[in-house]
Amino acid sequence: MNKLVVANIKMNIINLAERERYFESLKEEFKKRKISSIEVVLCPPFVHIESFKKCAKLKNFYVGAQNIFHEEKGPFTGEVSAPMAKSAGADYVILGHSDRRKYFHETDEQVGRKIVLALKSGMTPIVCIGENAVEKKSGKGEEAIFRQLKGCFRDINAAQMEKTVVCYEPVWAISTNNPDHLPTSNEIMTAKLLIKKFIVDNFGAKLVEKVRIIYGGSVSSANAEESCVDSAMDGALVGKESLAPFQFAKIAETIDNS
Ligand code: PGA
Repeated sequence: MNKLVVANIKMNIINLAERERYFESLKEEFKKRKISSIEVVLCPPFVHIESFKKCAKLKNFYVGAQNIFHEEKGPFTGEVSAPMAKSAGADYVILGHSDRRKYFHETDEQVGRKIVLALKSGMTPIVCIGENAVEKKSGKGEEAIFRQLKGCFRDINAAQMEKTVVCYEPVWAISTNNPDHLPTSNEIMTAKLLIKKFIVDNFGAKLVEKVRIIYGGSVSSANAEESCVDSAMDGALVGKESLAPFQFAKIAETIDNS
């Protein structure tokens, strides 16, 4: 099972010139480093998926989308379906990100429908779950994690579950510059064990070593060892530092060499 490092580029990289600079620098940084088995998934905005696919010719590099709509086709102005993202070149798709839940009021039920559609189109869903600051403070973090897992994965079977990636991304730890606002490796490992328990209880023990569980939330080249290696995660979802090729390649190297 290869580890995974995902770049959540969010609403960044404005034009082709910027994209070219990004790729040049990314290629240089990855060539400098000894990275053997990790999978790198670059998730740009929809408009860049096709051009990223053409550029991402490095070994073990893939392109992903940041979202899809929960219907396959029809009168949904402004939306992009799973088959569209796939045909543009996306092999992965981030689903249920807290930005989507916060700004677009996405529910677990919608995320569940998206997971089914992504799998049907041949994409690997990277499903984000994690408690927010209020849930954490009131001791309801675990409850929130289980609620989201139950809601998101209720319509799939074990064979489909095996093809998904779960990303534990505590909302309170996203894009923070304050190291005190990061979970410890023990806290991250505890969340991983909760997710594993959910998988065993709902899909059987056989699957538990097969589903990749990654961490997201202010992952940086400075904390990747603690947040992703010491916590025994299968990789990382990186936001801000994915825009900095030097740091992003260093994160990939740290996780690959672990
Ligand atoms: P961050 O973003 O690394 O900047 O915290 C992660 C994410 O939101 O996916």
